[in-house]
Amino acid sequence: MSQQIDHLLNEDRRFAPSPEFAKNAIVGPEIYDDANSDRVRFWGEQARDLLHWHKPFSDVLDWSNPPFAKWFGDGELNVAYNCLDRHVEAGRGDRVAYHFEGEPGDTRTITYAQLTDEVKRLANVLTELGVGQGDRVAVYLPMIPEAIASLLAIARLGAVHSVVFGGFSADSLRARIDDAGAKVVITADGGYRKGRPSALKVNVDEALSDRGEGVQATVEKVLVVRRTEQDVEWTDGRDLWWHDAVPAASADHEAQPFPSENPLFILYTSGTTGRPKGILHTSGGYLTQAAFTHKTVFDLHAETDVFWCTADIGWVTGHTYATYAPLANGATQVLYEGTPEFPEPGRWWDLIEKYGVTIFYTAPTAVRSFMKQGREIPQKRDLSSIRLLGSVGEPINPEAWMWFRDVIGAGATPVVDTWWQTETGAIMISALPGVTETKPGSAQVPVPGVAIDVVDEKGDHVGNDAGGLLVATEPWPAMLRGIWGDPDRFVDTYWRMFSDKGYYFAGDGARRDADGDVWLLGRVDDVMNVSGHRLSTAEIESALVAHEATAEAAVVGGSDETTGQAVVAFVILKESFLKTNTAEGLAEELRAWVGTQIGAIARPRDVYIVDELPKTRSGKIMRRLLRDVAEGREVGDTQTLADTSVMSVITKQVR
Ligand code: WT7
Repeated sequence: MSQQIDHLLNEDRRFAPSPEFAKNAIVGPEIYDDANSDRVRFWGEQARDLLHWHKPFSDVLDWSNPPFAKWFGDGELNVAYNCLDRHVEAGRGDRVAYHFEGEPGDTRTITYAQLTDEVKRLANVLTELGVGQGDRVAVYLPMIPEAIASLLAIARLGAVHSVVFGGFSADSLRARIDDAGAKVVITADGGYRKGRPSALKVNVDEALSDRGEGVQATVEKVLVVRRTEQDVEWTDGRDLWWHDAVPAASADHEAQPFPSENPLFILYTSGTTGRPKGILHTSGGYLTQAAFTHKTVFDLHAETDVFWCTADIGWVTGHTYATYAPLANGATQVLYEGTPEFPEPGRWWDLIEKYGVTIFYTAPTAVRSFMKQGREIPQKRDLSSIRLLGSVGEPINPEAWMWFRDVIGAGATPVVDTWWQTETGAIMISALPGVTETKPGSAQVPVPGVAIDVVDEKGDHVGNDAGGLLVATEPWPAMLRGIWGDPDRFVDTYWRMFSDKGYYFAGDGARRDADGDVWLLGRVDDVMNVSGHRLSTAEIESALVAHEATAEAAVVGGSDETTGQAVVAFVILKESFLKTNTAEGLAEELRAWVGTQIGAIARPRDVYIVDELPKTRSGKIMRRLLRDVAEGREVGDTQTLADTSVMSVITKQVR
């Protein structure tokens, strides 16, 4: 963090939009005045302009029972109709919705008409499987077109999807299926990753069979896409193949209207304490802000642009900017199944060249790994189609921002750094590329219609050139509507901190510079950000302690050149295990263990075997001190420790 503050103080590079870019931009500077003069009217206009309403709304915002908002509450719409049918009906059915490329090199070009047809068939299949309004469907798929079709078909029925990232283990999948009470699971035999077929169906089988005592199994059917053709186990009466059911189903399906506040999806995200939170999003407000930000922040010219958001649908970025927003806006996208390194570094640049990508949206962790591989790799490709670059997921340090602009953007392409969260549903803070003079490393200004501030612990505005906590001071259309099944936790986690002001607390530290622009400084709680994905220390600690050799564990984030933060674990072993095993052997075993318990992304970079952990008198682990050790810094103030000598012991054991 101190490094970022240094940068911040020195950062005086500024990049104004070129006159050419500004002239052709979708919006100009006047949009800010328009939004500021009356936010509620402004969002009402956006909702009417950007979406089709089966039943128009009269009420834009109902904030009579905060923090439970209703946006466009008496309106009705169908999210899938907005993403598909209306484009086909307007004569744009032949436009490409996705250029799909599988990791092995197989390709499919999917038009809006074709995607609409597939979604209608799938909607009929799901109806037959008993899925209706409000039912939950879990989606556990690789990045293939069937994943996109699944989300849209579920939305079309007014049902609720819960996507579980394909990299998560059977245990994580089971916890999410149970929490949401899913009725159907859509999965695949497997997917391709790093040149190998990875298995998915086997995890679904495990999640559904190996149940805890007294846990009611809610899943009735499993729909399976054949992707890798690997062998799978089959449960008759429960499992059915996509390729048997979907093509045989009728392609006639009329989208029914649902209330604006009908739930659209649940997406699980880590919190400070244990259990992941099922973040709930609804329909009209979410789609309005998604479409609005996609159009304005990415300066979308839908007829000519080719948009590529590299996020997996397992994360919110894949929901909002690889699925709903671009489709609502009628954009053409690239969809890629695999990793940037397969079969060799440069695969992403090959895809940009091949499909003529004009707008490229990715994460700082990816940019940093490309920097490490060297500029020669992208420079061997023709990237001249690119006219706009976007970043999301964690702070992008100024050097990575400059490299992105210089090497990928030929030294001329605007870079927008977009701050938002699973909870916010859509972009909240970002430059507008045709309007804002950009600064490397700063997310800068709230998007029109969004109200954010940086405040002190009492909730008072800190002013310029000062640091504090990031809050949203007014409700916004794409805001989360709750935590699935736990309204109290929703209020506690996000609204308790500044309850007298009614502010939403985002959990991030931030700073305003002398111009009032916002710089994000990372999470203030015990949540880490690894490669742009939020992981909770508590969850990983629980996994470590679940291993028979572990007595106690503490996890912190240590800075990492590539992933932003890396998981660093301090573990106390049960003595009996040290008698028969080496510490190194057990450390390696624990790394692998976390990988199978939670998923590869949570696997610790380092596992340090220690004798003690630093604790306060009330028994709270002082992660701040462990962070110092993980970073190789001098250990900070140890006065509140119950035993002040413990840190010197730990430091010695780690070195
Ligand atoms: C957390 C949200 C929303 C997409 C991906 C992550 C961090 C996100 C930025 C940015 C600095 C950022 C924050 C935030 N974050 N974007 N542009 N600059 N930090 O979604 O898993 O819900 O994580 O990611 O710490 O709170 P998420």
